[in-house]
Parts: sequence; structure tokens; C-alpha cells
Amino acid sequence: MVQKILIAAIDKDGGIGKDGYMPWHYPADLKLFMNLTMGNTIVMGRKTFDGMFDREKVPLKGRQNIIVTSKVAEYRSQFADKYPSSELGFTDDLNCGDVELAKDTKIFYCGGANLYQQTIDTVDMMYLSRLEDSYDCDTFFPQDPQSLGQEFAPYIPAYMAKSFSDRMAGKKSFTFEIYAPKPLIIY
Ligand SMILES: NC(=O)c1ccc[n+]([C@@H]2O[C@H](COP(=O)([O-])OP(=O)(O)OC[C@H]3O[C@@H](n4cnc5c(N)ncnc54)[C@H](OP(=O)(O)O)[C@@H]3O)[C@@H](O)[C@H]2O)c1
Repeated sequence: MVQKILIAAIDKDGGIGKDGYMPWHYPADLKLFMNLTMGNTIVMGRKTFDGMFDREKVPLKGRQNIIVTSKVAEYRSQFADKYPSSELGFTDDLNCGDVELAKDTKIFYCGGANLYQQTIDTVDMMYLSRLEDSYDCDTFFPQDPQSLGQEFAPYIPAYMAKSFSDRMAGKKSFTFEIYAPKPLIIY
């Protein structure tokens, strides 16, 4: 069974984006995102892909990038020559049932709001970076993470909390939380 994980960075007010982008720059969070997702499959909504592709940020290296869109044929024909499907694929199936996935991969749903909304009730775990500041956002995480307490238990691995407080000293800080169903199962 493929493990499915939602991964997001959320500001103090639940904001996740503005005008198709993330209105902040947290290098440590980007590095964390890279380390957690490397070698696996990342699934993103078409609007997030467009915003990142404009700035030549995707496809993200070392990961199979799957873009969810209703315009599969249009996007495939646009990108098929440039990238093999093992690097960049397009689907209209959130479960990626029609995509050939790498063996033993995890699926990371990495935004945006539309994709989070549709997957939040079905994922096995959530990785949330909670930014301590507020930003001017026009797109928001679909649910207050605090309200997920019934089904999900926030959990910060001790080794991570320590290394983060060490590394983030004097820089913009955030808290990394893992939300997993109770009882907590660490894979
Ligand atoms: N803070 C974070 O961690 C984070 C992470 C990622 C993105 N973001 C931000 O989130 C914002 C974008 O979010 P968004 O909600 O506007 O858009 P989105 O979720 O990125 O993309 C929505 C699009 O995905 C496609 N889609 C979604 N579900 C589908 C389904 N079941 N079947 C077929 N197609 C489907 C549709 O594309 P078509 O219209 O092509 O059919 C839809 O218009 C940006 O500001 C971005 O920077 C933030």
C-alpha cells in the first residue's frame, strides 16, 4: 500500500499562497521539504505547477512530479518532448491510478489549497510547517490544523525540535509538526 502524506507550509493565519506563489522565503523549510520528499512522488495541483514552472522551479529534481489537471492531453503534449513521464506526469486521478509509480515510493500531496481540500481526509499523515509570522495571502489551508485534533495527533520528533531550534536561531522560525492518526505509527 502506498503511503500518502500531505505536506504544507502554513502561516499564522492559515495562509498558504498569494497570486499563485508563496509570499515568503524560508530556506530551512525548503531544505526540509527537499529532504522529506527526495526519491519519492510529489503530486501538485495545476495552478501550483503553473506558478512554479513560470519561475523554472519545477519539475523538482530527484522526485517524480505528478500534476493533477483536467487538461491532461493538453499538458502532456506540451511537456512530453522535454521530460520523461518518470520525471513529470499529468493525471486527472488524485490517486495517480493511471500513473506508473516508482517501487516503494511515498506520495506527497504538496498543494495547493484545492488539492489539500480533496486529500486531507484520506492521507495517512500530514507534515505541516507552521510559520510564526502572518503574510498577505489570498489562498488558505482548508482546515484549521488545530481542529484536526480529534483524528490527528500533532507530534514533533524530539531530534527534529532540537535541531530546528539550533539551526533556526536568529532566523525566521517555524515549527515542524507531524500529524498522524492515533495511535501514532511511524513508518
Ligand atoms: N504553502 C504551501 O505549502 C503551498 C504549497 C503549494 C501551493 N501553495 C499555493 O497554493 C496556491 C494554489 O492553490 P490553488 O488551490 O489555487 O490551486 P491548486 O490546488 O494548485 O490547483 C488547482 C487545479 O488543480 C487541478 N485539479 C485539482 N483537483 C483536480 C481533480 N480532482 N481532477 C482534475 N484536476 C484537478 C485543476 O486544474 P485545471 O484547472 O487544469 O483542471 C485545478 O484548477 C498558490 O498560491 C501556491 O503558491 C502553497
